[in-house]
Amino acid sequence: MPAFSDPSDADRAVQWPLPPGAGTEATAPGRRLRLGVMASGNGSNFEALVQASSSPLLPAQVVCLVVNNPGCGAKARAERLKIAVTCLDHRRFASRDNLDGALVDHFQAAAVDLVVMAGWMRIVTSRLISAYPERLVNIHPSLLPSFRGVDAVGQALAAGVSLSGCTAHLVSEEVDSGRILVQAAVPVLASDSHDALARRIQAQEHRILPLAVHLAAARLGLLHGQPQA
Ligand code: GAR
Repeated sequence: MPAFSDPSDADRAVQWPLPPGAGTEATAPGRRLRLGVMASGNGSNFEALVQASSSPLLPAQVVCLVVNNPGCGAKARAERLKIAVTCLDHRRFASRDNLDGALVDHFQAAAVDLVVMAGWMRIVTSRLISAYPERLVNIHPSLLPSFRGVDAVGQALAAGVSLSGCTAHLVSEEVDSGRILVQAAVPVLASDSHDALARRIQAQEHRILPLAVHLAAARLGLLHGQPQA
């Protein structure tokens, strides 16, 4: 039986759908997608989006980050990367609806084309979803529809699956649902700890999230300088 040399190797990941010419489309000269990002924790997906921006894969600009935890790693990354960051601490809002209203106000003021939930650990409401129809992208550390909700990596380990992964999808009202944009598969090894599996899944998240944003924009005709819907 062949040994896995590197189970996180890109070639071992299964992705679909892969659009023809993915990564080769470009916006009209001078036009870059304006992205708003939401994060709660470490912010590695946020940083991956920033790094992918301006490359042929993702002709975009991350114009702002919103965090809900004042001390989170994502905020520190934004400061280092010189991306405007705002904290909307959920503890200061009376309801999810109020928090989402503040998010909408913030992103509308920043004139973003798309909003990316890059590790946003709050349930979002129709207030945000309806303000960005088909324009709200989430990344989740499982092959949806398996293992929705909290600690998807732990759920996968507990279930004993031999294949897990990550999913980038459009956000709908039901948690961790909505049209799947891109998935990557990651083998679960017998020796895997939670951290080890989570790390390999995150390496794939960093690859597929920029592609998913590109796909979401292409679906809306936001590339090639087409007018916004
Ligand atoms: C990511 O693994 C993401 O899939 C997960 O949080 C992590 C954030 O990591 N999101 C969810 O579980 C949402 N249901 P990061 O802060 O390093 O990007």
